Amino acid sequence: MRCCVRRTIGQKEIDRKFFVIRKEVDFMVLKNLKMEPIKLLQKYYLPDSRAYSILLAHSLAVTNKALEVARKVPQFNPDMQFIEEAGMLHDVGIFLTSAPEIDCHGTMPYICHGYLGRELLEKEGLAKHALVCERHVGVGLSVEDIENQKLKLPKRNMQPVTIEEEIICFSDKFFSKKGDGGAVEKSSEEILAGIKKHNKDGVIKFKQWVIKFGG
Ligand SMILES: [Fe+2]
Repeated sequence: MRCCVRRTIGQKEIDRKFFVIRKEVDFMVLKNLKMEPIKLLQKYYLPDSRAYSILLAHSLAVTNKALEVARKVPQFNPDMQFIEEAGMLHDVGIFLTSAPEIDCHGTMPYICHGYLGRELLEKEGLAKHALVCERHVGVGLSVEDIENQKLKLPKRNMQPVTIEEEIICFSDKFFSKKGDGGAVEKSSEEILAGIKKHNKDGVIKFKQWVIKFGG
């Protein structure tokens, strides 16, 4: 199933956005990867849809940030190639959710995009990448978080475990998905203020990550 596109952006706008995005894609090391994340995204999203434009801009921003973070912590020996692939795919499940402001017209609540992305990537034979999808929502969700916040999610531990999962989850917090496809980096303070609203333990976790990875 591909993204159901109800609203498309104008051709001129697409051309302008894609010129910028393609330049970034070319700049990245995507050629040497074992699998091709862009091709996989295009299996589920129409390339001229606003959803794809927003997803690609966000995923590139998160992946670039994650690679930057990973380079700062060589002592943990992060797998750079995996970060690049999984960073590009971590939000693949958004089209299955209902978020019309970012051109996603599925039926599931937005918070489900993580585990839905996991199911999708598992079907693609990418079990390790799939876990990144499930474990990147918020600062990761424990069974307790899911129960206490009455989230409509399967009751299992959805917290990042590996260093790559942690780096991608951390990096993701710096970029929201803008309706215009733009990617503006937030400050650690802005992120903390957002987390504070619904997850006090999350504040501690994010502060620990800032110490571990740098803000
Ligand atoms: Fe994301």
